[in-house]
Amino acid sequence: MTTDLSSLEADLLAQVAGAADEAALESLRVAALGKKGAVSDLLKTLGGMSPEERKERGPLINGLRDRVQGALLDRRETLAAAALEARLAAERIDVTLPVREGPETRGRIHPISQVIDEITAIFGDMGFSVAEGPDIETDELNFTALNFPEGHPAREMHDTFFLPPGRDGRRKLLRTHTSPVQVRTMRAQRPPIRVICPGRTYRHDSDQTHTPMFHQIEGLVIDSSATIAHMKWVLEEFCKAFFEVDSVKMRFRPSFFPFTEPSAEVDIQCSRKGGEIRFGEGDDWLEILGCGMVHPNVLRHCGLDPDAVQGFAWGMGIDRIAMLKYGMPDLRPFFEADARWLDHYGFRPLDIPSLVGGLTG
Ligand code: DAH
Repeated sequence: MTTDLSSLEADLLAQVAGAADEAALESLRVAALGKKGAVSDLLKTLGGMSPEERKERGPLINGLRDRVQGALLDRRETLAAAALEARLAAERIDVTLPVREGPETRGRIHPISQVIDEITAIFGDMGFSVAEGPDIETDELNFTALNFPEGHPAREMHDTFFLPPGRDGRRKLLRTHTSPVQVRTMRAQRPPIRVICPGRTYRHDSDQTHTPMFHQIEGLVIDSSATIAHMKWVLEEFCKAFFEVDSVKMRFRPSFFPFTEPSAEVDIQCSRKGGEIRFGEGDDWLEILGCGMVHPNVLRHCGLDPDAVQGFAWGMGIDRIAMLKYGMPDLRPFFEADARWLDHYGFRPLDIPSLVGGLTG
């Protein structure tokens, strides 16, 4: 009998020690200690024994049960620890490896798009909305409605790209400035108007600082009382916000545009020490935009009464101010689609400019 018990014990302990996983261990437990298990069967025999016999056999069988139970628990712990170890090894991450960027973070926003977003954020904060027009424009909208008389030399100044004449004999053109969007806006909505119009513009011109396609942003404010003083304030606030300086000096030089009267070209103060441009300091001047009070003829061409409404407008080259702000020496690479250039000068897709978040982060 005792040898029976010890061989059963040896057998069970060997099986427990050899159980490969927790499932195997569980079926062993059931086979030994479950309701119909081998050890449970032995325990049941205690009831039919004489007291003497039970006194002798009881401790032996109970002892066997305790040791098998202990062995099961030990093995379960060992297996659980081994399973955890294996999982940790499989899921190990080498935190010293460089982060692999996903496509959504690897792409870059072109500096022009970024600068348009910056400008839009600034004017959006002042209550302006964005208006757009087509790149292919009529002669009427690009010139005539803007008070360029037929045959006026100012039309030649623009080095216009004309398209072949259409069936009606009229030639469309690639807009030479964003100013036709002023006309489109005034014809489409009633004052008060506050819009900015960013977009592509085209002129027959190409060198280090000119490309045949470039970008402008137009601004237009029309209501019953908008004045030059308002215009100066708007432009000054814009320059401070855009160049991220506390104060900036601006110089308004009298100039000529057919669509504004009076007209001015605006320079901002800068310093160019050591080849680096800084704004809000120094005694150099840099021209950044043209502006003026909208000409009464333009208002009339748009069906507005110059005695009832008035306003101001301005136009600015985006590429140039992007080059200035981000220190890019040459304009041409803007349009060469060179991925290395874009990697270097481009912006991360989630660097979305806002006045609260900081324009350039
Ligand atoms: N359209 C002008 C240009 O391309 C820029 C400009 C000047 C726009 C004065 C305006 C303005 O709206 O008022 O050179």
